[in-house]
Amino acid sequence: MTRIGHDQNRPMIRIGFYGTASDIAQWEESLDGRLPPFEIVELMSDAGASCDVALVWAPPRDAFTRCPNLRGIIMQGQGVDHMMRDDTVPRDIPLVRLIDPDMANALSHWAILNALDFWRDGAAYRDQEQRRVWQHIPQRPATGAKIGILGIGAIGNVIARRFAALGFEVRGYARTPRSIEGVATFAGSDQLAAFADGLDIVVSVLPLTPETTGIMNAGFFGMLADGAFIINGGRGPQVDDDDLLAALDSGKLGGAALDVFAVEPLPQDHPFWTHPKVRVWPHVAAQTNATSAAEQVAAAITAMMDGSEPANRVDWSRGY
Ligand code: GLV
Repeated sequence: MTRIGHDQNRPMIRIGFYGTASDIAQWEESLDGRLPPFEIVELMSDAGASCDVALVWAPPRDAFTRCPNLRGIIMQGQGVDHMMRDDTVPRDIPLVRLIDPDMANALSHWAILNALDFWRDGAAYRDQEQRRVWQHIPQRPATGAKIGILGIGAIGNVIARRFAALGFEVRGYARTPRSIEGVATFAGSDQLAAFADGLDIVVSVLPLTPETTGIMNAGFFGMLADGAFIINGGRGPQVDDDDLLAALDSGKLGGAALDVFAVEPLPQDHPFWTHPKVRVWPHVAAQTNATSAAEQVAAAITAMMDGSEPANRVDWSRGY
């Protein structure tokens, strides 16, 4: 953006933008006043080829090979799995992911919404209402659910603490040991069975890595309580779709709320769309908020322009 008082001798920071869930105007407004003079251009345009930093979500393959001045890439979200799959993304400059508290709030609200709707038989009462049926369904113990959170990092630990505050028995699972007050924590694949044993509700907010791909499969479902509920806000490939459908149809699982899918948008002919026990959400559990993320994005751009280490830099070997 051009601003009054801009020093004409100092080149503007050029930010290359790519994404569909937010737009250039939103970022111009939210970053205004937080950076020296800057302009935001479409990454894939001619101007984008000379960008200093990139602010992206799901960019096309080879997007960055045409940007010789690029000093760093900032994601408009948490997940970096599609960047990991693209070997044309430069690895010698920082890649930063958003760790936005507002996204943790939104994802925790979405998880609680779905967990309570399941625990309090929301679907069955909505169905009764449609048919004008006045009938009690025996209430489950108000605080009796055993809830397991797969992934207890920046987002998952907020979710775990909030379920604990609702009075539920909460377990958390992560790659490496972590401790959260009021939550029983488990680490690594050796402890996955102990984590899963008898859970009524599972919430995944894991990043997608080779270790987490297919983690929710028939073997995992078999360890849960009968009639358990799956909430996936992590990544689609963490669920084995065929195993999930089989466990829902056999009655082993009571239902699933899914915000993420192996293929997005979810193909029109996918059985999840019409399955009575599956709730489909179009990857909206935590949408990027240019206002709440602005401070962090501005700090990352400042660090990249100064050549200093930005916060929340992705570790390529860890995969997130
Ligand atoms: C959304 O799925 C994100 O990774 O931010």
